Amino acid sequence: MLDADAPRPPRAVFELGVPVLGICYGQQVMMQMLGGRVGRGDGTAEFGRAHIRPSGAALDLLEGWFSGDDDREQVWMSHGDHVAALAPGFAVYATSPGAPFAVTADPARRFYAVQFHPEVHHTPAGRTLYANFVRLAGFKGDWTMAAYRDEAIAKIRAQVGDGRVICGLSGGVDSSVAAVLIHEAVGEQLTCVFVDHGLLRQGEADEVVTMFRDHYNIPLIHADESELFLGELEGVSDPEEKRKTIGRLFIDVFQKHADEVGNAAFLAQGTLYPDVIESVSFSGGPSVTIKSHHNVGGLPEKMGLKLVEPLRELFKDEVRALGRELGLPEGFIGRHPFPGPGLAIRCPGEITREKLAILRKADAVFIDQIRRHGLYDEIWQAFVAILPVRTVGVMGDGRTYDYACALRAVTSVDGMTADFYPFSHEFLGETATRIINEVRGINRVTYDITSKPPGTIEWE
Ligand code: XMP
Repeated sequence: MLDADAPRPPRAVFELGVPVLGICYGQQVMMQMLGGRVGRGDGTAEFGRAHIRPSGAALDLLEGWFSGDDDREQVWMSHGDHVAALAPGFAVYATSPGAPFAVTADPARRFYAVQFHPEVHHTPAGRTLYANFVRLAGFKGDWTMAAYRDEAIAKIRAQVGDGRVICGLSGGVDSSVAAVLIHEAVGEQLTCVFVDHGLLRQGEADEVVTMFRDHYNIPLIHADESELFLGELEGVSDPEEKRKTIGRLFIDVFQKHADEVGNAAFLAQGTLYPDVIESVSFSGGPSVTIKSHHNVGGLPEKMGLKLVEPLRELFKDEVRALGRELGLPEGFIGRHPFPGPGLAIRCPGEITREKLAILRKADAVFIDQIRRHGLYDEIWQAFVAILPVRTVGVMGDGRTYDYACALRAVTSVDGMTADFYPFSHEFLGETATRIINEVRGINRVTYDITSKPPGTIEWE
């Protein structure tokens, strides 16, 4: 915000007489543009959970807030800069210890500006705030997923015409929902390509192929390209280089199969909105590239394939709702997300076949434990990362010198923010014992208790 070329909305936004809700950076932009001031660096940065309390008069935007016993609401913060002086006409309606301007507004102009993120799961009353804003803006709030589905199908038909589409299928919820939606829109014009990059979880390739060929009857090419991917990844340990290598190879492989399908003109992908946000860096803007998600960024001109990305504006929970709307089985919709680059980003440092084999086994034990304890559906995502360190242990009479691994399990709604899952010590102890007993090559198990932010869900 304080940088000279930081992006700003056109001034007209504030002159149209329409209600405006500024969130986080949006709050700061509003203050700066409307005559207030934004400051930096005096210890007011906040990342993660915070609690706000009401201050001053009641505000229509916060109707339904602060109704619990302790007169406070949990919100999710993620800001370095902060508002230092309010713009004329604005007043403060709630504060947190780190944000004296947590909720500000000029109700006469219907300008509202909040420092926290109401859009994330960890701001539990965020939906109420949005519902209030929608009402204050004079809308009915009657958008439904059924309407979205019809609209998406119409858009796909309009974009694709009678062209052929190939769809990269990973077996995850996103690409599957995209495939079923596109199949519903254009039927046999769609061919799915499942690329096995050798970085999948245990048994995953079989599951995907069986499901799509047998259950959905959608034409599917199963491309086993593990030699190619693992060969190119040999000696690569930098996370961005891994992602970019995998992304590049994916495009090559697609190109090959697009040619096989014969005159495919479109490539469909299950890109979601968080992938777009976290991959795009507006020039000079605050949203730096966190990770290069391999399925974003467009295709090289030379491919001559156009992108079909029907989920590009949706968050994960909305994709699941769309999947239900399309009649996908509940057990499938509830599956934990799995990233496109697969186990590569759960194997910090150099990737070797030996490490991948160990990782697959450890991961399968962890997931089995979670299922046995009935915790699978409470958890957004759970996996094992194999660490690039060996540690000394003792098993039986012998010294061991094997890999350490980290268990990661988080709760989230959209993957944008996350909290570590509070397993009991008994569960963690039992899981560590099982992994060490059942997986040769691991002699130490740790549990990752980092939230997002400041961490990310994956290790790379
Ligand atoms: P991070 O690690 O960025 O992950 O907090 C957020 C969510 O996105 C998944 N993820 C990916 N999904 N391609 C994908 O399709 C990718 O390159 C990618 N990287 C991370 C991650 O598993 C989590 O659900």
